[in-house]
Amino acid sequence: MMDLLDGIPHTPGTHEPLGTGAVLLRGFALPFEPRLLAALQAIVAEAPFRHMVTPSGHAMSVAMTNCGAAGWVTDRTGYRYDTRDPLSGRTWPALPEAFLALARAAAAEAGYEDFTPDACLINRYEPGARLSLHQDRDERNLAHPIVSVSLGLPATFQFGGLKRADPVRRHALRHGDVAVWGGPSRLCFHGVPSLKDGTHESLGRMRINLTFRGAL
Ligand code: SIN
Ligand code: FE2
Repeated sequence: MMDLLDGIPHTPGTHEPLGTGAVLLRGFALPFEPRLLAALQAIVAEAPFRHMVTPSGHAMSVAMTNCGAAGWVTDRTGYRYDTRDPLSGRTWPALPEAFLALARAAAAEAGYEDFTPDACLINRYEPGARLSLHQDRDERNLAHPIVSVSLGLPATFQFGGLKRADPVRRHALRHGDVAVWGGPSRLCFHGVPSLKDGTHESLGRMRINLTFRGAL
């Protein structure tokens, strides 16, 4: 199976290197899609998407929620992992079996055996939403890789180096793609520029990203 979007071939099953210890697994999440979407609905019913505020007071354009033992949150006091959803005061919904199975399988496919995430940040991008270049560095144990699953509308993934000023390469991210980065790439800068408008056949006018971490 191969489709062409923006003139770039998209071949599920291929591995595309992002850097040392970092790889893009094309279409790896596709077999999990029905279970992921059903589980996502249940999570969002308990812990809805919200636009969190950064320490500088700006509401993020990406709406977020979490599942797992800990969830990534930001507010005026800073970034942190919290075992409770600040909106409800309750613990976050548990990591669904399908999320765990996909995260573990993708990590193993990328060479990271025995990854058991305890946190999953769920990002919702609507057209125009973006995530500026950043490092994932709030996790306690950086020995775990990051496993990042793309669903819905296509996006561009900027993947750079360990310094903010390092050159950044751009990769297309499409429905079902999974990026894994760890080891020497674990702290690489990455970001997603403004999402283009469109309609996806199963998710509509949005992109969902699941980011699995070992946070605690
Ligand atoms: C993130 O860095 O948390 C999200 C990356 C993405 O949306 O692909
Ligand atoms: Fe990130």
